[in-house]
Amino acid sequence: SNTENSTNERLLHICQLLEKNINYYNWVGFYFRNGNKKELILGPYVGAPTDHTIIPFGKGICGQVALSNKNFVVPDVTAQDNYIACSISVKAEIVVPIFVNGENIGQIDIDSNTPDPFTESDERFLEFVCHKVSEML
Ligand code: SME
Repeated sequence: SNTENSTNERLLHICQLLEKNINYYNWVGFYFRNGNKKELILGPYVGAPTDHTIIPFGKGICGQVALSNKNFVVPDVTAQDNYIACSISVKAEIVVPIFVNGENIGQIDIDSNTPDPFTESDERFLEFVCHKVSEML
């Protein structure tokens, strides 16, 4: 529908703003729960195309956040055994869940080519972004 299209355009714009303005945000995208299936589907994103358009709950950093409902900050992706590599240039990752009516319905996922770049300020800022996103869904 038109409503869905404009939501996706707005989500893409958020990705573009974040990637453009924060130098250590190198891939920025949204994943959303696929109905009641235990899997995430890739939504709007900017950065290198990824093969991982569907991620089962529990798999990778994103799949773990779908189950934990908690932020996941990864300072060094090589130290993670449950990690889905999308690009060899990625050094670090942060995933913050999006809640609608207290339910974890998706997440913002950010990859960085800089090692250990994310601080609590990124977590607070991305929680704010996710709250704003939850209000437009
Ligand atoms: N690295 C993620 C997969 C998604 S890509 O970063 C775009 C993960 O381990 O879940």
